[in-house]
This record gives sequence, C-alpha cells and structure tokens, in this order.
Amino acid sequence: MPETKTLTVVDVGSTKVLALVGELDDSEIGFTVIGVGRAPSQGVRRGQVVNLAQATSAIREALIGAQISSGVRQTEAILSINGASVSSRNVNGTAPISRGYQGVTQQDVNRALESAQAVNLPSDRDILHVIPRRFRVDDQDGVRNPLGMLGFRLEVEAHLITISEVVEQNLIKCASDAGVAVSELVFAPLAAAEAVLTPAEREMGVVAVDIGGGVSGITIFIEGEAWYTSVIEVGGIHFTNDLAQVFSLPFETAERLKIDFGHANPNEVPVEQICDLAGFGDEPRVRVRRRDVAEVLNARAEELFELIINEIARSGYDGLLPAGLVLTGGAALLPGLRECARRITERPVRVAYPQGLHGLVDALQTPAASSAVGLLRWGTRELARRPARKRYPGEHFSLREWLRKLLP
Ligand SMILES: Nc1ncnc2c1ncn2[C@@H]1O[C@H](COP(=O)(O)OP(=O)(O)OP(=O)(O)O)[C@@H](O)[C@H]1O
Ligand SMILES: [Mg+2]
Repeated sequence: MPETKTLTVVDVGSTKVLALVGELDDSEIGFTVIGVGRAPSQGVRRGQVVNLAQATSAIREALIGAQISSGVRQTEAILSINGASVSSRNVNGTAPISRGYQGVTQQDVNRALESAQAVNLPSDRDILHVIPRRFRVDDQDGVRNPLGMLGFRLEVEAHLITISEVVEQNLIKCASDAGVAVSELVFAPLAAAEAVLTPAEREMGVVAVDIGGGVSGITIFIEGEAWYTSVIEVGGIHFTNDLAQVFSLPFETAERLKIDFGHANPNEVPVEQICDLAGFGDEPRVRVRRRDVAEVLNARAEELFELIINEIARSGYDGLLPAGLVLTGGAALLPGLRECARRITERPVRVAYPQGLHGLVDALQTPAASSAVGLLRWGTRELARRPARKRYPGEHFSLREWLRKLLP
C-alpha cells in the first residue's frame, strides 16, 4: 500500500478548540479531512491562553476526538494563535545575488528575507510570520517571483507579524502538555483567510475579517499577499454579554437568544415578536421584544465595523481594496450582519464558509471552522514546500494514560 501522509492541526479559539486530521492527496485542495475533534474552549480569553491547565485539557479533548475519528495518532501539530499581542509592520531586506549570471536562487531569497527580519525587536517579542510582498532585482521593481532573474542585488519588501513571546510560549506549553509538539504557529485570522478568500479577491485587494468569540482578526490582502494584520478585541461574546446585561439574563440564555432570534438589522424584525426566556435562578421569566434584541446587537455590530474602518484607515491601504470585506468566524453567522457591514463601511461584503473540502466535512460547513481548515491548507502548502520542522519538543502522549487518569 502506498504510504499516506497525514497532518494534524488545532485551532485554539476563545469559545472552542477544533482539531482536524487531514490526509494529503492529489485533490485540488490537497487533502481529505479524516479526523475532527471539537471541545468547548476553556482558559482562553480574547484569543490568548489565560489558564494553562484548562487550555491544555481543552486542546487534549479536541485532539483525542480527532485521533479517535481518524485512527491516526500524531505527536506533532500546527496550531493557531491569536490575540491583541499580535502586531505587524512592513520591513525591507536586501541580499547580493550570489551568482549573478545564474539568476536569483531560493538561497538568495532566503537571505534577503533574513535581512528583513534583522529589525530591532523588543526582547519580549518573537517573529510569527515573514511574508514576502514583492521584490526588486537591481532596477526592476514590483517583481512577484524573482527566482531565476538576472541581477546583482535583491531587495524584498516583507510583512512581519510578531507576537509576545510569553503568549506564544504559554500556548506551546499547553500543546506540549496535551501531547503534541508544535511544528508551526499560524496567526488564526491569516489561516481563516487562507480557507475562504478567492485568488481573485486576494489579487484585487480585500479585507478578511475573522469574527470569533473573543476577538476579530483583520488581514488585508493586496497583490495576492498579506500586507496588513491586526486584532480588535471584540467578538461574538461581546454581543452576548450586551444582551445579558441589557435584559438581565444569564450568559447561556443570552447566547441562545442571540443564536435563535438574533438579528443585526432591527428593521428586518417584526415589531410584535416577543421572546419568552428563563431568568436567573427562580426569578420570573423575562419577556423581551425581538426588535429590542436586534437594536442591542445592531449597536455592537455598528461599533465593530467602525473599529474595522479605523483599522483600514490606519493600514494606509483604503484606496486599494475593491473586493471589500469578507467576513468569516462564527460570529459572522449573525443574520443581518452583512447588511450592517455594507452600510457602515460602504464596501462590498460577503460572508464566507470554508470551500472545496472532502471527507468529514459536515461539522466544517460553518464560518467558525475557517481557521482550522485554513491551518490544513497552510500545512499542506508548506509541506509541499519543505518538510515540517519540529520547533518545540512535546511529551509523548498516551491515550491509555489519559483515559486512566479519567477513570475512577
Ligand atoms: N448563528 C449565530 N449567530 C450569531 N452568532 C453566532 C452564531 N453561531 C455562532 N455564533 C458566535 O460565534 C462565536 C464563536 O465563533 P468562533 O468559533 O469563530 O470563535 P473562536 O474561534 O472560538 O474565538 P476567537 O477566534 O475569538 O478566539 C460565538 O460568540 C458565538 O456566539
Ligand atoms: Mg477563531
């Protein structure tokens, strides 16, 4: 039997952890999903680990689900990372072209990218991604792929994404304690964009927004590559919290209210509709008008899109985004959100689901799965480019050991 290659990824979100196992093949997307494991998130707030033991157990639970459904036990995984400690800037690097008459080689590109990373980073920050945006070979500007081009001097403009080292190390420790070494960390909104953007959108200029539970991650793509990234600390949990506060409801009741009856556009909701809900403990039931619910959600949505407009302005690329906004992440499911985004940002907007999947895809047909699917796409592409490198050792994970701990 031919040997099959598999890849495990874990998207660690503020509301859920989603682990997937992909088997690499020669389909268009490059893999079939053969394992899915999901666990409610714990110990992760606003995209960052805040409680190591809780986050570890959520990651482990998701990994076990993926391992049981796929029958594959892996000791290594690609993880997503998120949160406001992520920041980005554009940098330049240069390298001499070593054998000018043979043209630019991959080594020259790597050297130019290395020199781009030689920036003054505070000691508590680490580089997460270095994404080449475009190259210059001697006087030839705006080069997309310099390989083989003749010249003496290679320059690169790159997008550098950095993260707090402590935030990164905490996540790596959780993964390691849950039984996997981290082969790669990927900024979650970048992974989400990977799963949902079309090549045409990336080329034209687009803002991908991953609206999760705790944070909304923004990635601006121009000429096919990421040029700007940032994180806004507003997500679906804030929408739910607003409902809980305004109508004096327990968080879980407010969450159900949002998911079952929520709308971001009050005019779309009939005035007479009333929702009858259980209150706190033995308090009397609470009756709320569905239109009032929509008013509250609309206020939060408008605020979120105002913040997104500010980020687009801060990027300096507002004139280069004809493809508008692509919304994904679980909170993008709120009915009326697209219309609200369109009205506030005055740009085209679509809500995007992961595309082109095969295998165990039922649980993945939701914008909430975009980051996890994007991690698989990322990993598949990187594996084709170079073998996975193990960056951080993990403890060997034994399913039997873990089950034993659970049993009385
Ligand atoms: N039908 C729906 N309508 C409105 N909101 C929804 C719906 N379904 C899910 N959500 C919201 O989506 C959010 C979770 O999204 P997602 O799973 O993408 O977040 P996450 O990855 O766990 O968190 P983060 O990326 O912020 O760390 C929750 O706040 C949830 O209430
Ligand atoms: Mg997420």
